[in-house]
Amino acid sequence: MKGFIFDLDGVIVDTAKYHFLAWKKLATQIGVGFTIEDNERLKGVSRARSLDIILELGDITATDEQKQQWMTQKNEEYLGYVSRMGTEEVLPGVLPALHFLRENGGKIALGSASKNARLILEKTGIMPLFDAVVDGNDVSAAKPDPEVFVLAAAQIGVPQGDCTVFEDSVAGIEAANSAGMVSVGIGEAETLKDADHVFPGFAAVAPETLLSLSVKH
Ligand code: G6P
Ligand code: MG
Repeated sequence: MKGFIFDLDGVIVDTAKYHFLAWKKLATQIGVGFTIEDNERLKGVSRARSLDIILELGDITATDEQKQQWMTQKNEEYLGYVSRMGTEEVLPGVLPALHFLRENGGKIALGSASKNARLILEKTGIMPLFDAVVDGNDVSAAKPDPEVFVLAAAQIGVPQGDCTVFEDSVAGIEAANSAGMVSVGIGEAETLKDADHVFPGFAAVAPETLLSLSVKH
């Protein structure tokens, strides 16, 4: 049996734009210049680490209590966008891929750094397509640590070597590779150069192909 582990943000839905708007609002409030290019560095990275990157950009130091308050504020802003999400936000080709892999005996798991992952799966109506969900609430080590994918493989009962991971972040590809899984980059080959395979998106690949991808790293 094969396992297929999907990252959420940037793979299933394009939430990077909402994360950006919410971080941008906070950054502006605390006087930090934060661009869409800077936002690339936050992809796949935990909420706490994302804030640290923004504070580093502005050369700001803060107490843990202050950081906690800023993270809460950013998340409330982000949840405003999430509350308006629906099925139409699922990226092209994702639903056919999920259905095809399930119908062909694959086990499907989510492996995301986000603490909002379950809510987003509910809002987009795709929760029933997952056999297991592992997210930012379940792990102690963030990507590139492989913990999230190792846990996901265990939950679907598939050996790590028989799992394929779909990821848009460099940290996520590194995590998949160190777990001995097939790493499939969703994005640009130039950025995701350590991935075993790269596709610009699910619309660009036949679901049948996804079943037969193998390791070449
Ligand atoms: C994903 C996104 C990151 C985000 C992280 C935590 O990995 O790519 O940009 O910071 O999840 O998300 P959260 O919803 O818990 O703030
Ligand atoms: Mg991602």
